[in-house]
Amino acid sequence: MNQSVYIHIPFCRKLCSYCDFCKMNYNSIFVSKYLGSLSAEIKDKYEGEEISTLYIGGGTPSCLSTSELEALCKIISTFKLKEDYEFTFECNIGDINSDLLMLLKNMGVNRLSIGVESFDSDNLELMNRYCTFEDAYSKIELCREMGFDNINIDLIYALPNEEFKTVKKDIELALKLKPDHISTYSLILEDNTLLKLKGYQSIDEELDYKMYNYIIRKLTEKGYVHYEISNFAKPGKESRHNLNCWDNNEYYGFGLGAAGYFEGVRYQNTRNLTKYLNGEYVLENELVTKESKMKYELMLGLRKLKGINIKEFHDKYNENIQNVFDLNALMKNKDLILKDNYLFINPKKIYLMNEILLKIL
Ligand SMILES: C[S@@+](CC[C@H](N)C(=O)[O-])C[C@H]1O[C@@H](n2cnc3c(N)ncnc32)[C@H](O)[C@@H]1O
Ligand code: SF4
Repeated sequence: MNQSVYIHIPFCRKLCSYCDFCKMNYNSIFVSKYLGSLSAEIKDKYEGEEISTLYIGGGTPSCLSTSELEALCKIISTFKLKEDYEFTFECNIGDINSDLLMLLKNMGVNRLSIGVESFDSDNLELMNRYCTFEDAYSKIELCREMGFDNINIDLIYALPNEEFKTVKKDIELALKLKPDHISTYSLILEDNTLLKLKGYQSIDEELDYKMYNYIIRKLTEKGYVHYEISNFAKPGKESRHNLNCWDNNEYYGFGLGAAGYFEGVRYQNTRNLTKYLNGEYVLENELVTKESKMKYELMLGLRKLKGINIKEFHDKYNENIQNVFDLNALMKNKDLILKDNYLFINPKKIYLMNEILLKIL
C-alpha cells in the first residue's frame, strides 16, 4: 500500500554549475504542457490510497507563477491526505515572498525545504547561485511569521578549493537561521555539469572527512539528531517522507525523471520532455524479487544511523539478516554493529558507507 507521493517539477530560474538533477530553464509554455501531462500521469497511476507524505521537489517548484501553482494545487487535490500528513515543498530563497507562502499554506504545505547551499561569495559564484545570509535570514523569518514551523535548509560543502574555515562559517550562519532540519551534502562532481566540464577537481578526501566530522559535531552539539548520513533534525522533525523511502516502503513518483516503487516494481520515469509530454512516462521498470528487496532493505536501511531492526527484517522476509548477507568480517572489525536488535554502521565509520555496502553486496 502506497502512502507517499513524490512529484517532480523540473524547472529552474537559473541552472547551478554542479547540478545533475532532472531540470531545465523555466519556460511558461513548457510548464503549462507539463502540468497537463503530470495530471494525466497521476490519474493513470494513483489508486486512491490515503497518503501520509507528499513531497514536491525539483528542479525548483517555487519558480512557478501563481496561476501555474494554482493549477498544480488543483492536480494534487486528487490525493486523499491522512489527517497527520506531511507535505513538503522545495523552494529557492529568491522565490520566497508572502504571496507564495500564502498560496503554499492554502495548498496544505506544512514543510518547506529551502536550497541555501552556502553563504560564501566564492562558493556562490562557483555554484552560479546568489543568496546572502541577510536574504536567507529575512526569508526564513517570513516563513515563520506565515506559520511554517517545519523548515529544512540544504547546504553543500567540500566545493573545489573550499577551505575548512568556510565550512565553519557556513555552519555558524546556518545555525543562526534556526532551521528544524538541515541536509548537508558533500559536493559530488557529476559528469556533464559545468563544474566538471571546466575541469574542477574534488577536494582532498581527508579535508572532506574533517569537514563532515566538524558538521556532525557542531550540529549534534546544537541539538540536532544525525539520523541519516547527510541529514540532521531537531527531535521529531525528521523527514517522514525520506524515512519512508529509507525504510524500503513503496511510494509513487510522478513527473519527469521521477523514480517510484509501486506494487513490487521500482520504476524510473523518462528524462526526455518530449516523450513525457507524449504520455510515455516510464523509462524502465525493475521487478523487485525477494532477494533484491532484501538488498534494498540493507542499502537503504544502513543510511539511517539507527540502522535496521533485525527482528522486523525477520518478520518481513522470514530470514535472518546474518544468514542472507555475509556480515561477519564487517562486524568483527566494527564497521557494523549489532545492538538491541538493530544492525547499524559504526557512527565513526559512517562516512565509509559506500565502501561498506560494496563489501557486503
Ligand atoms: C532540488 S535541489 C533543492 C531546491 C532548489 N532547486 C534549490 O536548488 O534551491 C536539491 C538539493 O540537492 C543538492 N545537490 C544538488 N546537486 C548536488 C551535487 N552535485 N552534490 C551535492 N549536492 C547536490 C543541493 O543541496 C540542492 O539544494
Ligand atoms: S540545485 Fe536546484 S536550482 Fe540549482 S539547478 Fe539544481 S534543481 Fe535547479
